[in-house]
Amino acid sequence: PWSATTRFLPVAATGGVPLMDIVERFGTPAYVVDEADVRGRCHAFRAVLPDADIVYAAKAFLCRAMATWIREEKLGLDVCSGGELAIAESVGFPAERIIFHGNAKTPHELLEAVNYGVGRIVVDNLAEVTRLAMLVPPGRRQKVLLRVIPDIEAGAHEAIRTGGEGQKFGLSIASGDTAAAVARVLLQPELRLVGLHCHLGSQIRTAEPYEQAARIMIEQLAHIRDAYGIVLPELDLGGGQGIAYLEAEHGLTPDDYARTVLKAVEERSAALNLPVPRLTIEPGRSISGPAGLTLYRVIAVKRSLTRTFVAVDGGMSDNPRPSLYGARYTARLIGRRSALAPRQVTLVGHHCEAGDVIAESVPLPSDIRPGDVIAVPATGAYHHSMASTYNLTGRPPVIAVADGAARMVVRREEIDDLLRRDVGL
Ligand code: LLP
Repeated sequence: PWSATTRFLPVAATGGVPLMDIVERFGTPAYVVDEADVRGRCHAFRAVLPDADIVYAAKAFLCRAMATWIREEKLGLDVCSGGELAIAESVGFPAERIIFHGNAKTPHELLEAVNYGVGRIVVDNLAEVTRLAMLVPPGRRQKVLLRVIPDIEAGAHEAIRTGGEGQKFGLSIASGDTAAAVARVLLQPELRLVGLHCHLGSQIRTAEPYEQAARIMIEQLAHIRDAYGIVLPELDLGGGQGIAYLEAEHGLTPDDYARTVLKAVEERSAALNLPVPRLTIEPGRSISGPAGLTLYRVIAVKRSLTRTFVAVDGGMSDNPRPSLYGARYTARLIGRRSALAPRQVTLVGHHCEAGDVIAESVPLPSDIRPGDVIAVPATGAYHHSMASTYNLTGRPPVIAVADGAARMVVRREEIDDLLRRDVGL
């Protein structure tokens, strides 16, 4: 059964499959994703926002299996590259339900998106307006949203804050770019402006910034009505709903999010005499993050004067988030019980950097030893999708669990895969 928060305990089994069975069949390190949990999180957003379009942000985690689940759950898909679009196409994802994003979409990517017939292209900058218009075949009109900077600072880390004036995404309201882009799109017969978009940032754990954003965006819709006499029917508020990575943390629940946003949108629309726009949201992390975990094998345990290090067979190549954003994780011993009291250890990876730390101060039994298996929860978003091959290590497989059965949906990257790209002298 699905729960509103990350399931930290028990992690002995997930999706009805004992994790040790997965270790035996598929080896470590491995990403595990619980299909029912993903689907449950899709339902949760749909239940609280029945009239909105729920569009999953593919960047959090995408493979053909995931794209298929999202398609079957009747959500939309936010893609931001030709690669993500190709996966969507490969599972026959309905084009109308795709939103294409990016601050530097190449002409080739734009053409691919237009040719596939994606439902919305989110225009990020002025140059894109004419570039896109030129690519639309005669007789067609491409629906577009304009990405606007609401100038709100929210998000867990500088690198994942995208709502303020000082960052690279979207059109500034203050500089006049938003107004200029509206005018430009309206001049292009190949384009149809259907609404505005904003995305504040990521791992936002309170609803308050969304309330602010909703108000600012409704005001922009009113400005456009007043200046051009058109009422844009759609408002896309992006994603960013935060999740729990540690047991003591709380994510932003779909319920709290929806209640706050709907209230703000309805109140502000009424005050400005606007019809309530059709809402779109783009949750990524909150759909796939808590549904995933990573399994590692302990390779070495080392006690230094100040710390105990537990070193595993993965690390910053499968989880770069601690080094990029100072992200924090917890870990569990699985596969055996220990009667010994836990002690705080530093969980580190096998990469050639001192910064290759998966988690600081994790309580693990004091008899932790090589061969033990460790599970790190809440790794379903921005792990597989951000994995690298640093130190020429292959990326882990993705194992999907559902109804008591495990199956590999992305295979392990082998050294042969890595060598194949190297064409030699
Ligand atoms: N929509 C847009 C336009 C986005 O740029 C993003 C994320 C999302 C939706 C989904 O946001 P989410 O609900 O997943 O927070 N690599 C970072 C996160 C980067 C997020 C980029 N944009 C991390 O690991 O924390």
